[in-house]
Amino acid sequence: MLDFIRQFGKNRHQVGSLVPSSRFLGDALIYRIKSHQGKKQILEVGPGTGAVTQRLVSQLSPGDELWLVEANPRFCEILEEKCQGIWSQNLLGVTVHIKRLYLEHLKEGLEFDFIVSGLPLNNFEPEVVQSILQSYQRLLKPDGYLSYFEYLAVRKLRSVVTNLTGSRAGLEVNSILDGFIDRFQIEAKPVFLNIPPAVARHFQLKDEA
Ligand SMILES: C[S@@+](CC[C@H](N)C(=O)[O-])C[C@H]1O[C@@H](n2cnc3c(N)ncnc32)[C@H](O)[C@@H]1O
Repeated sequence: MLDFIRQFGKNRHQVGSLVPSSRFLGDALIYRIKSHQGKKQILEVGPGTGAVTQRLVSQLSPGDELWLVEANPRFCEILEEKCQGIWSQNLLGVTVHIKRLYLEHLKEGLEFDFIVSGLPLNNFEPEVVQSILQSYQRLLKPDGYLSYFEYLAVRKLRSVVTNLTGSRAGLEVNSILDGFIDRFQIEAKPVFLNIPPAVARHFQLKDEA
């Protein structure tokens, strides 16, 4: 927890929240993974100190593959330690890749059954949001699921603030995310037991014929 707060102090924009997600939010994000039959390839983006990963690792079986893509070097060290320590029993027979990089730089040719993302999209510039959404589309199998969260009402609030300040970038991000949600979202679950309360969103990225 202290590490998380420290890193937030250093880079608020990228870390995006003062405290890690609650286990309730973690469970709301990963619950679809439980019912998957057979081996699975999972990408977690922006795992931070592993609040959601902690819930995820208990759903893994030998033969599964887990990729953790995290931009913050200190968080990557913590994830390494946890994989070798407290999570090691759950990771027996699981191939784990911890990549210290931005999602947008993850190499071509990979495809996942599940993408679970903690990226604070609402903090980013419109071009970055576009590029991240394109990365999700590139990296998810046609029948795969993408799950991410955002804090409740954050975009509504931003509309109000943006109208007052006159900045356009926030409204552009709202419109990009609204479009993505309208087109691909299959489920949204509010999670009130989180600081702050959030909504877990689930997507399939194939267009209807
Ligand atoms: C809001 S925190 C979420 C942490 C954790 N998943 C949780 O729910 O408590 C966002 C995380 O995304 C990471 N991050 C931000 N932009 C990223 C990017 N483009 N690629 C990979 N990680 C990124 C940050 O370093 C931070 O750890």
